[in-house]
Amino acid sequence: MKGVILSGGTGTRLRPITHTGPKQLVPVANKPVLEYAIEDLKEAGITEIGIILGNVGREEIQNLVGDGSKYGVDVTYIVQGNPLGLAHAAGCAREFVGDDDFVMYLGDNILNQGISELVESFKAGDYGAGISLQHVDNPQQFGIADVDVDGNVEGLVEKPDDPPSDLALIGIYVFSPAVFDAIDRLEPSWRGELEITDAIQLLLEDGYKIDSHVVEGWWKDTGKPGDILEANRLVLESQKRSLDGTVEEGAEVNGRVQLARSATIESGAVVRGPVSIADDVTIEDGSYVGPYTSIGENTRIAGPHIENTVIVGESEVTTNGRIIDSLIGRAAQVESAEGMLPEGRRMVVGENSQLHL
Ligand code: DAU
Repeated sequence: MKGVILSGGTGTRLRPITHTGPKQLVPVANKPVLEYAIEDLKEAGITEIGIILGNVGREEIQNLVGDGSKYGVDVTYIVQGNPLGLAHAAGCAREFVGDDDFVMYLGDNILNQGISELVESFKAGDYGAGISLQHVDNPQQFGIADVDVDGNVEGLVEKPDDPPSDLALIGIYVFSPAVFDAIDRLEPSWRGELEITDAIQLLLEDGYKIDSHVVEGWWKDTGKPGDILEANRLVLESQKRSLDGTVEEGAEVNGRVQLARSATIESGAVVRGPVSIADDVTIEDGSYVGPYTSIGENTRIAGPHIENTVIVGESEVTTNGRIIDSLIGRAAQVESAEGMLPEGRRMVVGENSQLHL
């Protein structure tokens, strides 16, 4: 079995964070979202992986993942170009997949329980496709499956106005090569995309059996800023304490804190886990870093009270204000305005930013 990770798309809903890089590289607990997908495939025994690239962030993805050897996998890059839909992206992988079955993993999805069960279940039967489902509160925003009492899939529809159920398709699918024939017959949907949900519906109509599972553990589509914070919370929730870096005397470090080797918590700083602190980060005297915060590489924290926040990295946060529920992009500077005249907030605010003052 092969793996295909979709890393195309434009990331518009994560702007301005994605003005400087692809959404699949936004870090969750200091690890790019894409790496979770690679690790899940590897864990399920899938080491031949094709990564679909769009027009945005190709180089960044290739620079990070390389040939895959650092993850113990073999990566082939496949260029999709414009994001014409998930089924179009899958179709681009046809040559790479050949006659094999394959897992298609959306590069912005994170799943806590891995994919081994799904893969094993698909292998054990004679299926055209395998899908994973989860109950959601907002079924209008997902692909939705209609499933009978025995778990048999009866129909699928993408982002319906009038959902037949609350069971969303999560972004991990298993396919037999029969899906390529279905993709060839697709017409663009109302949103102008070739939908993978429609391809699975065609497989169903062709008489193929569809394997389906309701996933119990958490799953996150990290498409929007709030989703990144929630995924970060969920991952940090199960992290262990490991203090590889320097904790100076007089610093207070409580709970499940991960401190990378070249990071320092200086005397007078307080860190309360779960918190993840990457390499070359300094938490200075007077700073408080509270639960569910991840601080990316090469960042200086001098004075703030921070909680439930993701700082991507290369940043300076020198305000003594309170920062909560925030997603702070790479190379951002957050400083105090106190003492500045005339009073007011001085800002350089990127296109599509969201400020809550
Ligand atoms: O997250 C689960 C949902 O993912 C499913 O419930 C939906 O049925 C499915 O259509 C998909 O919906 P989204 O609208 O959230 O998909 P999105 O456009 O965000 O794309 C998902 C990933 O695939 C993302 O990493 C970008 C990549 N992608 C997307 C498109 C449209 C590509 O590589 N190529 C594309 O053409």
